[in-house]
Amino acid sequence: MSELLLGVNIDHVATIREARKGIEPEVVAAALIAEQAGAFGITVHLRHDRRHIQDRDVKILKEVVSTKLNLEMSTNFEIVDIALSLCPDQVTLVPENRQEVTTEGGLDMTQFFDKTESAIKSLKKKDIIVSLFIDPDQNQIDLSKKAGADYIEIHTGFYANSKNINKIEEFKKIRDASKYARSIGLSVNAGHGLDYLNTMPIAGISEIEELNIGHSIISRAVFTGLYNAVEEMNEIIKNSGIVEEWPY
Ligand code: PXP
Repeated sequence: MSELLLGVNIDHVATIREARKGIEPEVVAAALIAEQAGAFGITVHLRHDRRHIQDRDVKILKEVVSTKLNLEMSTNFEIVDIALSLCPDQVTLVPENRQEVTTEGGLDMTQFFDKTESAIKSLKKKDIIVSLFIDPDQNQIDLSKKAGADYIEIHTGFYANSKNINKIEEFKKIRDASKYARSIGLSVNAGHGLDYLNTMPIAGISEIEELNIGHSIISRAVFTGLYNAVEEMNEIIKNSGIVEEWPY
C-alpha cells in the first residue's frame, strides 16, 4: 500500500470569517499554506445552510488548489448541480441536517441508496471521483460498492469520542471495515474527530489511503500557525508504522 496522505479540512477558517461576515481569514490563503506544509488534499464542506464555506470559496479553490480538491456535500439537488458545474477532483457525500453542529454519523445507505446512487451516476459522468462517508459497517460498505462509489470514507467519530475498552472496539471496527472494503475493490479514506493524540493508530491501518482532518488542525493553528499545525500532523501520519492490533 502506498504512503498515507493527509487531507486538510479548512471549513473552520471560514467559520471564523463568517462570525463577522467579513473577508478574513481567507480560506484560499489557508488552502495554499496547508499545501505548502505538506497536505495532499484540501477538503471543504459546502453546506445547504452555507454556515461556513460559500460558493465563491469553492469556485476559487477549484482554480488554485494544485493537490486535490475534495468537496464534501449532501445529495441535495442544488448542491449536486454546483458540483457538476465546478467539477472538483473528488466529492465526498455526507448526511446533513440543519440542527447538527457537525456531521454526526455516516450516510445511511439502507435509507438513502436510490438518491445516493443517482448522485454518484451524475457525478461520475463528469469524471468526479466519488467517496461515501459511512460508518464502519459491512452492510454499508456493500451498499456503497453496489451504488458505484470509488471510495468510502470511514467515520472515525465514534472511535475518537470513546474511551478505554470501547475505544479498542471502535478501532477494531475501523480496521476490519477497511480490510473488508479493500477486499471488495473499494478504496478507503477515514476521518472525523481525529487529533494529535488519536490519529496514530488509525494511520497505521495499511488499507487506508487518506485521512481527512479539520477541527484539531485549525484549533492548533490558532496557537502555532497553520503551517506548523499541518506539518506536525503530517509527521504523526508519516511516523506511524503498520498496526494490526491496538497499539497501546
Ligand atoms: N470527514 C468528514 C466526512 C467530515 O464531515 C468532517 C467534518 O467536516 C471531517 C472528515 C473532518 O472532521 P474533523 O473536523 O473532526 O477533523
